[in-house]
Amino acid sequence: MPARETWATRIGFILAAVGSAVGLGNIWRFPFLTSDSGGAAFLVVYLLFVAFIGFPVLLVEFVIGRRSERNPVNAFERLGKPAWTFAGVIGALAGFVILSYYSVVGGWVLRYIIASATGAYFADPAAYFETVATGTDAVAYHAVFMALVAGVVAVGIRDGLERAAKVMVPSVIVLLVILAAYGATLSGASEAYSYYLAPDLGELSGNLLSILPAAAGQAFFTLSLGMGVMITYSSYLGEDRNLVSDGLTVVAIDTMVAFLAGLVVFPFLFTQGVDPGEGGVGAVFISLATAFAQLPAGRILGVVFFFMLGIAALTSAFSILEVIVSFLIDNFGVDRKVGTIAIAAILFVIGIPTALDLNVLTAYDAVANNILLILGGLLLSIFVGWVYAEGSLDEFVRGAGSSASLSTPWIWVVRTLVIAVLAVTLYLGTQDVITTLQETVL
Ligand code: TRP
Repeated sequence: MPARETWATRIGFILAAVGSAVGLGNIWRFPFLTSDSGGAAFLVVYLLFVAFIGFPVLLVEFVIGRRSERNPVNAFERLGKPAWTFAGVIGALAGFVILSYYSVVGGWVLRYIIASATGAYFADPAAYFETVATGTDAVAYHAVFMALVAGVVAVGIRDGLERAAKVMVPSVIVLLVILAAYGATLSGASEAYSYYLAPDLGELSGNLLSILPAAAGQAFFTLSLGMGVMITYSSYLGEDRNLVSDGLTVVAIDTMVAFLAGLVVFPFLFTQGVDPGEGGVGAVFISLATAFAQLPAGRILGVVFFFMLGIAALTSAFSILEVIVSFLIDNFGVDRKVGTIAIAAILFVIGIPTALDLNVLTAYDAVANNILLILGGLLLSIFVGWVYAEGSLDEFVRGAGSSASLSTPWIWVVRTLVIAVLAVTLYLGTQDVITTLQETVL
């Protein structure tokens, strides 16, 4: 078997991890979740979750990955705990579910780049979304998106993922800053900022029970946690580095991008009088498209926005496919190109039902985010906190200039707060999924 691949540079690893984290979750899901859940009050709770749940779990995945130098399925065996392999299998399963529909949404984004240029949705954005979201066209764009993802993953870690991330991640940030700056010049900007940024404490205490699980789920999804993406990426690290500062960089940039996305989306919506609370899978495609249809430079803005969203979605999708491909390579010595094409083809087929029926897409999203990811994160935290604590602490402090003094606080947060919160979230999320499935399928 050839030597295992590694990242060429530290910045390459960080940008690839940021590329995974920054995606549809930040730009498509976050602003609308914020408005559905009451604006600034949600933002406060979300930031607390990112800091006290998301960041410690990111380090949990980094520790498992760097220690085992394996994909999530094989990592546990390599660490001497083969009984825990099932935790990695749940992660890989989550990957199949997530990427299959993520690619369908990615396909919509690709289509909207073209549709913005031609103004195809300008007459009636809602009706346009309804026609293109499902059907043969949606399947075709899903195929194109999946092919783009496979094309980069097939090339490998250094020349594929790392090189792509180095160009794509900075582009997303630059384009978002330009769009946010434009948003600041719009007439609805000040109203939008006060809605987005001034927390209403009455709202916070009144809705805390519904805000909590939504904020926890979003913190997890946006940081790509719970399915082993960060295990896989850190397994290619090779030499010693400071995991804490790498993790902090990833969390800080991801949070900044989500925050920036809010600064883009809300001024557009408030200026055009579009209700920001219009949630659901079509949110960005209908509400924001409505704003583009009415603004003077709408075509250009639409192209820039959806192009930026497409890049962000691609770098996230790479990471999910890489988890599964890495399993095939580590385990069976499968050739990277052959493995990538085979898995992409399977994912394409699994995604077809979601490209034909939005209820199926919503069901995939709910099962993956509310159950599989949270369960995965809970199991990984129990493993690191209680089962493999000594080795985990040892790995945490390994490397030049590591933040050794943080190892004890970290492991106790994982052992107590993280596990308790994820257990409650899993319970609430499972209830939610059962209700959703009863409403849509049964
Ligand atoms: N974090 C990405 C986003 O915000 C989505 C994503 C990529 C993801 N890989 C993941 C979510 C793994 C959960 C698990 O769009």
